[in-house]
Amino acid sequence: MAELKNDRYLRALLKQPVDRTPVWMMRQAGRYLPEYKATRAEAGDFMSLCKNQDLACEVTLQPLRRYDLDAAILFSDILTVPDAMGLGLYFETGEGPRFQRPTDTIDAIKKLCVPDPEDELGYVMRAVSTIRRELKGEVPLIGFSGSPWTLATYMVEGGSSKTFEKIKKMAYEEPATLHMLLDKLADSVILYLNAQVANGAQSLMIFDSWGGALSHHAYREFSLRYMQKIVDGLTREAEGRTVPVTLFTKGGGLWLEAMAETGCDALGLDWTVDIGDARRRVGHKVALQGNMDPSVLYASPARIRQEVEQILASYGEGTGHVFNLGHGIHQHVNPEHAGAFINSVNELSVKYHK
Ligand code: CP3
Repeated sequence: MAELKNDRYLRALLKQPVDRTPVWMMRQAGRYLPEYKATRAEAGDFMSLCKNQDLACEVTLQPLRRYDLDAAILFSDILTVPDAMGLGLYFETGEGPRFQRPTDTIDAIKKLCVPDPEDELGYVMRAVSTIRRELKGEVPLIGFSGSPWTLATYMVEGGSSKTFEKIKKMAYEEPATLHMLLDKLADSVILYLNAQVANGAQSLMIFDSWGGALSHHAYREFSLRYMQKIVDGLTREAEGRTVPVTLFTKGGGLWLEAMAETGCDALGLDWTVDIGDARRRVGHKVALQGNMDPSVLYASPARIRQEVEQILASYGEGTGHVFNLGHGIHQHVNPEHAGAFINSVNELSVKYHK
């Protein structure tokens, strides 16, 4: 078993005692860092950065050089899977991700194949093993994917959407077609995440960024059901350690009990829920990750510190909490404010772990 110098993040996810609350930030490698922008310019564009294992490794490590973080996250994107299914991913400046060939008809969905992670997604696997080697056991490496529902929104809409017009029409009028797509995606994600573990990922996170756009019933039918299938299909042990699984549905605060029932190890929380309340609801079953509003980082270091203390106090004493933002860090955040956030968690959390 490879030695891990700092396993606070893995321990907290499994609710084992820790000396302080571990912390990392969603999108910690990204445009708020000048060194990220420089490496991205060197790569040419975002997808070329993802496809170059040495540069992807470099940007993964950049936030760890600046800050006292307890985990690294693979530098990649959730949309690598639909791209590998043949949709032709590209990024239009200022408009976010787009697909050349959206899958909004039954014929297009029937033709989709489950990608071989070591082939079409081999560049992600090479990034995972390169990052794992270069981390030299300092902190654990998080692998990730999108949830089937969230991936399907991009695939059916052809890119980012605010209204989810096409996919919701499909959900209500042609549910069997959408289920076929979600099922293929769940199979693809299982293979993809298990391959990440085989290549060195030590923890897994599933991003369901758009689950919160669904109704109470539709969430269970179109999002949770497929995350359940994934949880059931994942490798949960590697190198003699548990590989914890975290589910994050943005806007899913009302459904935490149902999410905890899947058998995952932890739930990611956005900033709309009180973490102490979430702990009372599901804390006997799962660990919790979150949940400071990323916009707090626009405020002063003193204000950031206050907000960190409030969240720590709300969670209360003991393990089972991984500090994070409630969503990804924004690109216009001052990197020093991100540092103030991380230092505040590291300093203020000690008293909750006696
Ligand atoms: O957390 C990390 O540091 C790891 C890397 C990571 C990225 N994307 C890098 C990225 C992760 C975990 C993601 C996940 C992701 N990608 C999600 C789920 C999480 C969430 O934010 O809800 C989603 C929905 C996507 C799809 C996607 N990719 C969007 C909407 C965008 C932004 C487009 C834009 O121009 O603003 C991307 C691109 C992307 N992925 C960037 C990064 C750092 C910015 C690309 C750039 O450098 O221009």
